[in-house]
Amino acid sequence: MQAYRARLLRFSPDGQPLFDEDGLLVVAPDAAGVHKVVDAGPYREVAPRHAQVPVRDFPGRIIAPGFIDMHIHFPQTDIIGAPAEGLLPWLENYTFPAETRFSEAAHAAEVATFFFDELQRNGVTTALTFCTSHPGSVEAFFTEAQRRGLRMMGGKVLQDRHSPDGVRDETEQSLIDTEALIRKWHNQGRLGYAITPRFAPTSTDAQLRGAGELAAKYPDTWIHSHVAENKDEVRWARELFPHARSYLEVYTGFGLMRERAVYAHCIHFDDADRQLMHDTKTAAAVSPTSNLFLGSGFFDFEGARRLDMRHGFASDVGGGTSFSPFHTMLAAYYVGREGQTKPGLSLAPSQLWWRHTGGAAQALGLQGVIGTLQAGTEADFVVLNPGATPLLARKTALADGLEELLFALIVLGDDRLIERTVVAQPQA
Ligand code: GUN
Ligand code: ZN
Repeated sequence: MQAYRARLLRFSPDGQPLFDEDGLLVVAPDAAGVHKVVDAGPYREVAPRHAQVPVRDFPGRIIAPGFIDMHIHFPQTDIIGAPAEGLLPWLENYTFPAETRFSEAAHAAEVATFFFDELQRNGVTTALTFCTSHPGSVEAFFTEAQRRGLRMMGGKVLQDRHSPDGVRDETEQSLIDTEALIRKWHNQGRLGYAITPRFAPTSTDAQLRGAGELAAKYPDTWIHSHVAENKDEVRWARELFPHARSYLEVYTGFGLMRERAVYAHCIHFDDADRQLMHDTKTAAAVSPTSNLFLGSGFFDFEGARRLDMRHGFASDVGGGTSFSPFHTMLAAYYVGREGQTKPGLSLAPSQLWWRHTGGAAQALGLQGVIGTLQAGTEADFVVLNPGATPLLARKTALADGLEELLFALIVLGDDRLIERTVVAQPQA
């Protein structure tokens, strides 16, 4: 067993922040070697219950749940900041050429290593991740995640049409490869497989149908795709699937909406789409830095709240401009301002934080597993140094209460705030 003493941020299962100025987090490994939270709370209450447990002190630091990124592309690490008029030219001119290189195993392995270094430097301990259409990219992703003991989900991209040579796959083989990868990697320790049609315009009906069949056969896998990000994309999808009521409804027609289905963006929706997301327990991965960078539009937080649509935050690197959850939370705050119908703040700081930790876990169907530091959950956490820069030190010292403290960290924070990222399954 091991205990950590610091200022301690946790969340209740329904998203209320819990903060102890002098807190103690007690963890112990389970039979599989995954450290779980045994006890947590105010030091004066928790410490007497664990008198024999060694304590590591982090004076002045804040321990908080590791961040969860609901949608990111590891093969797009090198195309962050690639300028384009909008989504479709960005895919054609930058994304597909960059992803073509992932047919080379050595390239995929090198980028995977850099990618996980960067996630951990930024305090991200779980990410639902696109690989490329090459099965070797999935091998590289899971091999490196396993080596680090991380809880990670990913999968082979399915794209058998409207895609250039080099990334386009073949319908039947793509489904055979997907099932083989599910059997090899899904639920191997903390790894999970995501069935990953890129988006409806780049898959044939047969490929989408096959993906839906696999999603039914392996019901605790994830489904991961994009929807309603960009107006030209929506127009294209409507032309290709004229019988669907909306772009989103294409996916439900192929059995691709259920718990653990996650769709990035979900911007150009109506309330019938939001209701369908709610009814099917499907989640939206909200990616504000990407949406602002590519000029895609503004996620409607008010609509998501009204229809009780599951959602959480994502970087969407390389459409997104940063691996840092602080940048994503700040961009979400700006976007929340845009859609505001009532006076007042946009999203509360603790709610921004929840959507990138416990709320994201809930949207991913991982409630009670990660994201809150509640007893029984996995002990993936970050140690934040609120004095990491002169301005952060000055501003956080002035904070009056938890919301002001969290807001200072969100507005001024980046990778410098993350002093340490602790993974629940330490590797030898
Ligand atoms: N839609 C289809 N593919 C992609 C992608 O790689 N990134 C983003 N942002 N949207 C997509
Ligand atoms: Zn994406």
